[in-house]
Amino acid sequence: MHIEEIATRTHEQVLFCDDPDSGLKAFIAVHDTTLGPGLGGCRMWHYDNAQQALADAMRLSAGMTAKAALASLPFGGAKGVIMGDSRTEKTPQKLRAFGRFVEALNGAYTTGEDVGMSPRDMAVVAEETTHVTGLDSGRYASGDPSPVTAEVVYRCMKLAAAQRFGTPDLGGRRVAVQGLGHVGMALTARLRAEKAEILAADVNPAATDRAATEFGATILSPEEIATADADIFAPCALGGVLDSETAAALRARIVCGAANNQLAAPQIAEALFARGVLYCPDYVVNSGGLISVASEVLRIDDETWIDGRIAAALDVFRDLLTRAATEHLAPLTVAERMVASILAEANRQSARQAAEQ
Ligand code: NAI
Repeated sequence: MHIEEIATRTHEQVLFCDDPDSGLKAFIAVHDTTLGPGLGGCRMWHYDNAQQALADAMRLSAGMTAKAALASLPFGGAKGVIMGDSRTEKTPQKLRAFGRFVEALNGAYTTGEDVGMSPRDMAVVAEETTHVTGLDSGRYASGDPSPVTAEVVYRCMKLAAAQRFGTPDLGGRRVAVQGLGHVGMALTARLRAEKAEILAADVNPAATDRAATEFGATILSPEEIATADADIFAPCALGGVLDSETAAALRARIVCGAANNQLAAPQIAEALFARGVLYCPDYVVNSGGLISVASEVLRIDDETWIDGRIAAALDVFRDLLTRAATEHLAPLTVAERMVASILAEANRQSARQAAEQ
């Protein structure tokens, strides 16, 4: 990403975190805090260069703004990205240094888990900042958000199936799951319980072995999974899986999965729509994780709160699918309009309040 491109984006702030003592190199992007302080996980990943990491932080944080808006949660969009291999380059020193950068933002950003991070890592980050969520212990601790994410993806998949196939029943449907990590494996378990047929791929052989043994999954190569002969494609690995080539070759009729930024470019949504593929916008169907961590940040005591938020998120998704079908639009187009109108209304309200003071 070049400086000209950055200048055209509408992020409120982007921080480059460089700590020579620990070797930490990271970005924190705060996209939009109209609805509340920035909330979003921290990803640790091996990027080829800083531009790639920056681009990821900026895209992911914008997705968080949309996700919080549609989930009616009082948060803005933000995200952290640590450069490096989480299996070999993660150190407590780097995590603590990251925590100090989070703390320096004074609450504009609250961090949590994303790919390559665990509740244990968050406990180390929490040694330096209180603006951290997804912890395993503490009165409001929400722990690993993945089970809630998988649950919401699964229920959205049933709603999408009801629209596309005329029944929400996933029994006998063939679902291609890409990525058998925290969310992908939990989703696979849920789908198998409903007797769906699972095709699966992961770059980690331990994960594919487990999916084959425990859930009878048919294992395909990572190259084959997106265009496999399936009814539903569930991307649960990293972003950018749907480029123009994959979109043209896709055989599934529904795309519904947890991965953030599934589309390599926004216009892919139109290409999928033109081919009659129901693409379920990622930031709508993967909002379960945000709901889970929000319960911790908002210090919710009520055990029914998460179920209530999940039900509300499903109502929004149902409404979105209906509007998309009625108006003959791609669901992503409808989602973008809904987000824009929520943000515009919030801006109008704060302008009114400011005028009254
Ligand atoms: P994870 O790190 O536990 O799992 C990702 C899995 O994808 C790993 O098993 C990895 O080996 C596999 N993978 C990586 N590249 C692959 C490839 N080319 N082909 C096949 N498999 C590949 O991550 P997690 O937590 O399960 O998240 C999955 C996705 O969902 C990520 O994009 C994440 O940002 C998104 N997400 C996760 C949420 C959560 O609650 N964990 C919430 C919202 C979004």
